Amino acid sequence: MIEERPFTPQAATHAPTFPTLRPRRLRRTPALRRMVRETTLSPADFIFPLFVTHGHGVRREIPSMPGQYQLSVDQLPAEAETVARLGIPAVILFGIPRVKDAIGSENFAEDGIVQQAVRALKAAVPELVVITDVCMCEYTDHGHCGIVREAPGGAFEIDNDATLEILGRVAVSHAEAGADIVAPSGMMDGMVAAIRQALDAAGHHQVAILSYAAKYASAFYGPFRDAAQSPPQFGDRRSHQMDPANAREALREVALDVAEGADMVMVKPALAYLDIIRAVRERFDLPVAAYNVSGEYAMVKAAARNGWIDGRGVTLELLTAIKRAGADLILTYFAKEVAQWLQSNES
Ligand code: PBG
Repeated sequence: MIEERPFTPQAATHAPTFPTLRPRRLRRTPALRRMVRETTLSPADFIFPLFVTHGHGVRREIPSMPGQYQLSVDQLPAEAETVARLGIPAVILFGIPRVKDAIGSENFAEDGIVQQAVRALKAAVPELVVITDVCMCEYTDHGHCGIVREAPGGAFEIDNDATLEILGRVAVSHAEAGADIVAPSGMMDGMVAAIRQALDAAGHHQVAILSYAAKYASAFYGPFRDAAQSPPQFGDRRSHQMDPANAREALREVALDVAEGADMVMVKPALAYLDIIRAVRERFDLPVAAYNVSGEYAMVKAAARNGWIDGRGVTLELLTAIKRAGADLILTYFAKEVAQWLQSNES
C-alpha cells in the first residue's frame, strides 16, 4: 500500500546527487533558452509543393489536405509572390495532365501543364527557385512510375531502362521551360545518371538534380495520390520504392545517386525516417532534403481540427525534429503557414 504523506517543504530539501551540475540554469528565462537553442527553423529551409492543373480560375481545395489546392496556371503569379514575400526560396511542382497515356506524353510536351507553370512562375518572380518533380505516375493512364510491360506468367513489371530514356526527355523539357532543379522521384536504377547525361547533352549544365534517393514504399502518400490523381491502377510500387524495414539499403541508394551526379539528395517520408535522415547526414556532404509528406500533413491537420492536439505546437515540433535529425531542407505543405508564424515571431 502507498502511504499518503502530505507534501511539505522539508520533504523537498534533498539536493541533486551532483549539486554543481544543474542543467536547469540555462532554461531559466526565454533569453537563456534562445541562446542555447541548437536548432532553429527558418523560411529559407522550406520548399513548398504546388499542384498545377488545367483550366482557368481553378483553386480547388484538396479534401484530405486542408489548406492545399490544385491551382490553374493563372493563379501561380500571386502564389509565387506570396511564397517569395514569406522568404521561402523554392517551390516544387506537380502537374495534373489533361490526358494520361501509356508513356505520359504530356510530361515532356512543350505546352504541358508543368512547362506552362514553370514559365508563369519564372515570369512572375524570376528569383524563385523552381523545382519540378520528374516521375511518370501522374501522367500515365496506369499510374505507374515507368513503362509497364508484361512479365512472364501474365504479371506486369516496370521496364527500368526504357523508363530512363523518357525521364531524360522529361528533365530536358522541364529545363527548357526554365526549371532550376529537376527532382526525379521514380526510384528507377540509374535515373540520376540518365538525367544528367540528357541535360548535359542538351546544354543544360546549370540545371541541378535533387534526387529522391531514399524513397520508401509508404502508406503516408495517400492524400498526395488524391491531390495528383496518381494512384496505381493495379499493383503497387514496392518493386521500385524501398522497403520501410531497410536502413542500410538507403545508404547504398544515396551513394549511387551521389556517384551518378546528384547535386542534392532526399529522404522521403520524413517523420518515420528520422534515423535515415541522420544516417545520410553523417555519411554524405551534399545538401540533404527531407519530404514531410501528405499523410504526415493530413494527420496533424485532422487531429488539430478535432481539438486533440495543438496544431501549431505539433507542427513546429515536428519540423524542428526533421531539421535536428540533419535535414538542410524540408519539402512541406506547412511552409507558408510556418513562415508566417516565424515572420510574425509568434513561435
Ligand atoms: C511521385 C511522387 C509521390 C509523392 C511525391 N512524388 C507519390 C508516390 O510516390 O506515390 C508523394 C508526396 C506526398 O505524399 O506528399 N511523383
